[in-house]
Amino acid sequence: MATRKRESQDQDARVIVHDEDGQFHLTNGLISYIMKVDGEGKLLNLYFGQAVADRESFAHLIELQHRPTATCRIEGDMTYSLEHLRQEYPEYGTGDYRQPAISVRQENGSTLTDLQYLDYETIEGKPELEGLPATRAGEDEATTLRIILRDGLTGLKVALNYTIFDGSPILARSARIINEGNQHLVVERAMSLSLDMPDSDYDMTIFSGAWARERHPHTHHLHEGIQEISSLRNASGHFLNPTAILSRPGTNETMGETMGIGFVYSGNFDLHAEVDTYRVTRIQTGINDANFAWRLAPGQDFQTPEALVSCTTGGYQAMSQAFHAMVRDHLIRSPWNKRARPVLINNWEATYFDFNEDRLVSIASKAKEAGIELFVLDDGWFGSRNGDTAGLGDWIPNKERLPRGLTGLAKRINDMGMKFGLWFEPETVNKDSDLYRAHPDWAIHTPDRHMNHGRNEFLLDFSNPDVVENIYRQMHHILSTANISYIKWDMNRFVSEGFDTTRGPQSQGEFHHRYILGVYDLLQRLLDAFPDLLIEGCASGGGRFDMGMLYYTPQIWCSDDTDAVERMKIQYGTSFFYPPSAMGAHVSIVPNHQTGRVTPIRTRGNVALFGTFGYELDLGTLSEEDMEEVHRQVAFYKEHRQVLATGSFYRLRAPYGNHRCAWMVVSEDRRTVIIGDYTILLEPNGPYTSLKLQGLDPQADYRITCTGPSTIQGLTLRGDELMRVGMVDSDAASGEMGGVNPLGSTKDFDSRLFVLQAD
Ligand code: DGJ
Repeated sequence: MATRKRESQDQDARVIVHDEDGQFHLTNGLISYIMKVDGEGKLLNLYFGQAVADRESFAHLIELQHRPTATCRIEGDMTYSLEHLRQEYPEYGTGDYRQPAISVRQENGSTLTDLQYLDYETIEGKPELEGLPATRAGEDEATTLRIILRDGLTGLKVALNYTIFDGSPILARSARIINEGNQHLVVERAMSLSLDMPDSDYDMTIFSGAWARERHPHTHHLHEGIQEISSLRNASGHFLNPTAILSRPGTNETMGETMGIGFVYSGNFDLHAEVDTYRVTRIQTGINDANFAWRLAPGQDFQTPEALVSCTTGGYQAMSQAFHAMVRDHLIRSPWNKRARPVLINNWEATYFDFNEDRLVSIASKAKEAGIELFVLDDGWFGSRNGDTAGLGDWIPNKERLPRGLTGLAKRINDMGMKFGLWFEPETVNKDSDLYRAHPDWAIHTPDRHMNHGRNEFLLDFSNPDVVENIYRQMHHILSTANISYIKWDMNRFVSEGFDTTRGPQSQGEFHHRYILGVYDLLQRLLDAFPDLLIEGCASGGGRFDMGMLYYTPQIWCSDDTDAVERMKIQYGTSFFYPPSAMGAHVSIVPNHQTGRVTPIRTRGNVALFGTFGYELDLGTLSEEDMEEVHRQVAFYKEHRQVLATGSFYRLRAPYGNHRCAWMVVSEDRRTVIIGDYTILLEPNGPYTSLKLQGLDPQADYRITCTGPSTIQGLTLRGDELMRVGMVDSDAASGEMGGVNPLGSTKDFDSRLFVLQAD
């Protein structure tokens, strides 16, 4: 990638630099991000928001006024205090009393630094972050501004990277910490993003939950102090997703200014908003600094993961559209970013550990009849894995269950005209396994301490390259000997007793990050060897649903909860940052294995269609009528999967605490629209309702078809009417079980699909 210095004042450039004034303006007509070096050499943020025209100087946006209790930098000058300034990469200990972006311990024990502006360069496109997932962009798509700060006393350098993309309101940021001095340094904190906004009038929305209840949105108004979400599980976790929204009060789906923050990382994270005494809001995200300490010998450097931040004005919807496009166009790898995903059947809920080759083939052949394209063999195919107490770590086919091995099974599946996929849990080991018996020290443990387990499993020490190499070889061998198109990459443990057994006492603070780097390394090596392989991420359901994993795994299993109603809530919440093409979603059996709820197969299908569609049951157990519905669903998905995978997704009616839920997808050319309209609990004789559609061509005529009772079935309506007046979707038949209503009757958990087609 060409690297060159560009001192551009061109209004069309993505990076406008006023060299004499030390002013940097990143803009693309959608957003502006303006920084300036002040008289003390500090890099300040002047503005982040909707695009503004450039001007020679924005220096008037710096407020330097005397405050009574300020800690001032210049003797005799009461106005210059770091406490008041909006710094780009603040430090602790020199008058700024908020959370620092960086903290580096020196040989004398001090963590004080004084980072001063040194230099900058602009790079067309976007350099990769070595060993880390990050958005990708070519020279014609983005420009990266790199600003170098330096601490004169220690020789510590910080390279701040800012990438601005054409046509996107999202900015990508990361930092590289470089030791150019001659002493040993320890990085104890290095945020990927630190951004001071001038006021605090924001609502903060976070996405929290638990196993089987992942990523429900929760909103609260910011108040003074720190409002933080984080993970110390060494996985992003089920509890708090590494994403958040700051929006102006009153923001709804279609109106209001929002900032979306997403962290492209899968381990311990921290994301917080700190409102200070003057109601300035400092937003930071990065690797969680608890238990973090990264040694830097002279000449070494440390790269932080990437963070993304957006600014949009069209409500939550506009922010989601921007993140969906970023994930689809710049994060998910080719060819799967644009490629429709195969309809799959997974045997987990159908068999759990109780299967043999014939049982699997019978499940697959029934699925093949329905048009399903990929058979996925889940947990239990390897080693001595007859339950969850043994076998993890031994990635060798279990001959009792699979007498012809995976090669034989894959061939039988392939011969039917289906692709074959396989489950792995590469990061874990059971004590009852040959791998553990040979290398007990490879299971994460702290010497002489008790080891906790989860579901009888222990994590392998992925900070140790020998461990990664062993698992790589085992997986590579399996993938080379059977025709495998897809793998499901599961992980059902969170780190405990984290300890680096190979690098010694000084390295313990590096362990958790090194573990994640090991996971990324294995993923990358497998993808280098098998570039077409589709990997679906998974972690006990949706316990590692993050942008870091999406870089390698184009889809992630959303949740172990396959109940249609719970799935509406999970997929709705997930959709704020992630597109449907990233969300693994399956139709399963009823009563549902997680909730015991009985929902119609139509609704289970109508929810799963808005994800990477698949089944997780033995279709042979279904009634003829339900099987016909499965045939219809698969045919519908195949007809519309390009739209479902690459179209724009809009939320229309939130399921939380409501009787109903709705969402829609619009094709790129705006000719095809698919709306999922769900009744949760029926409201007898319910209100008149309509849905204001979005993203349509206002002048196009859309012909409406509906898979259930509807008063607008067969009508042709114009885009402007559908968006401004709305599309009537009253559940008029509700409450008349006696069959009086000519439209029929609706029940709890009913659903309909509307398809709107313009010529
Ligand atoms: C947890 C996953 O979320 C499930 O889908 C399944 O693969 C099991 N693990 C298998 O052990």
